[in-house]
Amino acid sequence: KSLREYNTFGIDVTAAEFLEITSETELKTILLKETKKPIFILSGGSNMLLTKNLDALVLHIAIKGIKVEKESEDSVIVTANAGENWHEFVQYCISKNYGGLENLSLIPGYVGSAPIQNIGAYGVELKDTFVSCEAVEISTGHSCTFTAKECKFEYRNSIFKNEVKGRYIITKVTFKLTKKNHILNTNYGAIEAALATKKISKPTIKDVSEAVIEIRKSKLPDPAKIGNSGSFFKNPVISSTQYLQLKNLYPTIPSYKINEESIKIPAGWLIEQCGFKGKRWGDAGVHEKQALVLVNYNKATGKEILEVSLNIKKEVLDKFNIKLETEVNIL
Ligand code: EPU
Repeated sequence: KSLREYNTFGIDVTAAEFLEITSETELKTILLKETKKPIFILSGGSNMLLTKNLDALVLHIAIKGIKVEKESEDSVIVTANAGENWHEFVQYCISKNYGGLENLSLIPGYVGSAPIQNIGAYGVELKDTFVSCEAVEISTGHSCTFTAKECKFEYRNSIFKNEVKGRYIITKVTFKLTKKNHILNTNYGAIEAALATKKISKPTIKDVSEAVIEIRKSKLPDPAKIGNSGSFFKNPVISSTQYLQLKNLYPTIPSYKINEESIKIPAGWLIEQCGFKGKRWGDAGVHEKQALVLVNYNKATGKEILEVSLNIKKEVLDKFNIKLETEVNIL
């Protein structure tokens, strides 16, 4: 079966076997059966680059459902099943006036993958509202719960990318959201600007969501039109010593201070400085408005995209002595 429709990069590789899973019971039944091929989990396919055909049993997790667990006057505990589309879930929360996820509007992918890399945008991360998630252990078919603390969330990182990588399938995620006195995060320059243009001085969560949608649409390619996986690399963290050296050579280098010793540099800037922005090799390229996003214009292979990413890594290392780490999972 072709996986082209199941990964946002739109890479045309095949799966030896493919099953769409719509309930937890179905998932457990399959895990407990003897399977000849290794199991590969595919949810929204929004953070991966497939570079070869998969000789595996691919399980597409499409378990739907949203449930309010508990409610008080001020807050709500809500659980979404792994197969819910992330953006639709965010929009559902906004329609109910549940606050906390609005800055994470329009992020591609499914709810179940959101904790794996602690998705984040415009000053907010998943971990800020995350309570826990439920997961099924692939080897035993047993369910267990991971609390926020157990998930060990960091910038684009969690336990699911490290200690327990590949061992669990997340089936549901629980959030604590606000019902009133929403804590808005509008400090990000582009959000402030979008709200100011619309002369909104007391924004609602819907206003913030709309501003984020506008910003993302203006900068990031729509995966339904041009294949991509969002940021391909993480923003690197360098020492303040190295930062000062670079600042001498490149006075306009953008940066975010993390602490006295470390500074985060936008990878998009480094890549643009190396002349990659908007470049194209066949159907593989670097997005013209955001150099951190690699794109598949139509029929690029995963290997071709990978090649572009390796060239970028090399040039950035040569020019700035900074090692870029991929954010996207390469398979
Ligand atoms: N920049 C350039 N050239 C570019 C792109 C960026 O010079 O082509 C510089 C500019 O100075 C710009 C700065 O980089 O001001 C930051 O750019 P942007 O606001 O677009 O954010 P980012 O650091 O490139 C990160 C996340 C995005 C998230 C945005 C907004 C990572 C790896 N990426 O990008 O997340 O939407 O911030 O919060 O942290 C994703 O993970 O897939 C993703 C899209």
